[in-house]
Amino acid sequence: LVQYAAERYVTVVPEIDLPGHTNAALASYPSLNCDGVAPPLYTGTSVGFSTVCVEKEETYRFVTDVVRTLTEATPGGFFHLGGDEVKKLSEEQYAAFMERAQRIVADHGRRVVGWDEIAGVDLVPGTIVQVWRPAEAATQAQIRRAVEQGATVVLSPADRVYLDMKYDDQTVLGLAWAGTNSVRDAYDWDPLALLPGVTASAIEGLEAPLWSETITTRADLDYMAFPRLAGVAALAWAPAEQHDWDAYRLRLAAQAPRWTALGINFRRDASVPWVE
Ligand code: ACM
Repeated sequence: LVQYAAERYVTVVPEIDLPGHTNAALASYPSLNCDGVAPPLYTGTSVGFSTVCVEKEETYRFVTDVVRTLTEATPGGFFHLGGDEVKKLSEEQYAAFMERAQRIVADHGRRVVGWDEIAGVDLVPGTIVQVWRPAEAATQAQIRRAVEQGATVVLSPADRVYLDMKYDDQTVLGLAWAGTNSVRDAYDWDPLALLPGVTASAIEGLEAPLWSETITTRADLDYMAFPRLAGVAALAWAPAEQHDWDAYRLRLAAQAPRWTALGINFRRDASVPWVE
């Protein structure tokens, strides 16, 4: 994976979603559970119900092993610790765990990335906060504080660039918990206006996640990614003065023959006058 990505100028950033999203680890390593008993295997898509036992030293040995293994396997300067959707810990337990886990990552020479929940804890210098819930006032205040302390942000607002959200009510694939994200929604927003008080110098860039609970084939994946991914790329990379939906949709339309030739199952969205 790392080599395939590198040949295409892509850097793989490993994400191990701690301390929650860990049911598979808890089922495989009974000692990571506070009671030492492995939970049943789970193949559903709920999250938030699992956590490694933050009181046990064994847990931090496990985190160190995982961080070391993945640091050796990946070349980039980043390690994503997750940190989202933890429902089983107190705020104090969560903060204590994330602070210690961050130090493990920093000791391995990587910058920490974490979902915006981590903005509420003390961050090691250079941490990147990945913002998925920008509308929440508490999150905004925490992010401003984190940025004042030297953190930077990656913007992934779920109601704009989550590519696993349906395009509209008729879309068969995808989820809709953040609403529907049309082709225009993914492109036509202002990253600089997303977080009041967070200026361009603190924004590393955008990331458009495509979570795959409803995705089983390459064609499904293409359909959710294209054309929205092109819009996110255009928004992230083009100068702000070029940001113009009416001009962009014509440039997008011209991609149809290329994508067809490449065998990409893109959505021929009605908002775009596709070139045949
Ligand atoms: C997330 O979607 N839970 C980051």
